[in-house]
Amino acid sequence: MMNHQSDHIKLKTLVIVAHPALHTSSRANQKLAQTAARNATTVHDLYAAYSGTTLNAAHEQQLLLEHDRIILQFPIWWYSCPSLLKQWLDDVLTYGWAYGEGGNKLHGKEWGLAVTAGGSNETYSPQGYNLYSLEQLLRPFEVTASIIGVRFLPIFIVFNAMQLNEQELDIKAEKYAAYLTSIH
Ligand SMILES: Cc1cc2nc3c(=O)[nH]c(=O)nc-3n(C[C@H](O)[C@H](O)[C@H](O)COP(=O)(O)O)c2cc1C
Repeated sequence: MMNHQSDHIKLKTLVIVAHPALHTSSRANQKLAQTAARNATTVHDLYAAYSGTTLNAAHEQQLLLEHDRIILQFPIWWYSCPSLLKQWLDDVLTYGWAYGEGGNKLHGKEWGLAVTAGGSNETYSPQGYNLYSLEQLLRPFEVTASIIGVRFLPIFIVFNAMQLNEQELDIKAEKYAAYLTSIH
């Protein structure tokens, strides 16, 4: 049998972390970023890389080309991502490169989301105050993946992100390590 991960060619994984307070007030994303540093090929701290408002799109595109699996890691802020990651999407996934005529540069890569949410799993349902599941609320990312020709992976979610104690965070970090390294 040749179905062990070690028998497969190792994927090069890029984790793009978008949290403006990653090194100060963040607990959940800081923990996940430390896990990513041990389990991904490259961790790209977006807010550390750019203090202004201009992104180096060519550099960002080059990073994407060098990896097979791209994971966007961020806290859920108003049912979406922090603004620098939105700008990253706008500036980096350009016409003729990521989509549209000749825009095939990312085709065949894997694309995942790793998010932390203040709310509980139960709140993200028709009976809860967030009304929809996070999978539903994050559909713009799923459609974007479809447009740019990448395979959208299951979303990795940490609910109750502000309430978890150290032990609970450690368990989430272990799950994240498995998410980053396993075959989906
Ligand atoms: C501006 C802002 C908006 C937020 N919006 C949401 C939200 O829409 N849904 C939610 O579950 N939590 C929301 N939260 C809570 C964050 O998701 C939570 O603080 C974060 O996941 C914790 O991760 P961290 O420890 O890495 O900061 C929001 C927090 C801030 C600061």
